[in-house]
Amino acid sequence: MDLTSSQLPPPRLRAQNGVVEVPAYTDLKLHDICSGPDDPNREALDMNQPAGSPAFFAGNTKFLTRKLWGAAKKPNYFHHGKFTTMREAILAHSGEAQGSRNAFEALSANDRNAIIEFLKTLQVLPPGTRRLVVDENGRPRSWPPDAED
Ligand code: HEM
Repeated sequence: MDLTSSQLPPPRLRAQNGVVEVPAYTDLKLHDICSGPDDPNREALDMNQPAGSPAFFAGNTKFLTRKLWGAAKKPNYFHHGKFTTMREAILAHSGEAQGSRNAFEALSANDRNAIIEFLKTLQVLPPGTRRLVVDENGRPRSWPPDAED
């Protein structure tokens, strides 16, 4: 599908140097973000393995990186849906994502809040919206906010 086609409803993604970037905020890959066998987010059974096999009972710690585009409007979070806030979800990252979590925890409270506010801006737009960045009422707005002044 041509994501830049004028046949598609607006707002349309634009190609830059022939490349259309889709701001999905995921790598669409499996990652082990558990801290080890005792991580509460680990799955006790690996449903991707033949039922009853040793691999099945070995459990699973690898999960598909969820897209952050639109995540704010779709709680609950993680594969088990136990987290009701994105903050809880971020603080549950370990393993391969430990560095990101450390970076988040090292921020000031204000900057941690700013990350959560940023995640809320990654909206899936209501049908008929013509601009990529809108306020909570669907009206076009400038981004970053400083550009409005
Ligand atoms: C600052 C960086 C990051 C932020 C703000 C972030 C945020 C989030 C959020 C809010 C979720 C929950 C989404 C949902 O369930 O709909 C999530 C899930 C996930 N993230 Fe991250 N993440 C970050 C970095 C990473 C990194 C570096 C990795 C991998 C190396 C990763 C791997 C995952 C995976 C695998 C899930 C799904 C977990 C599950 O379903 O159990 N994240 N992330």
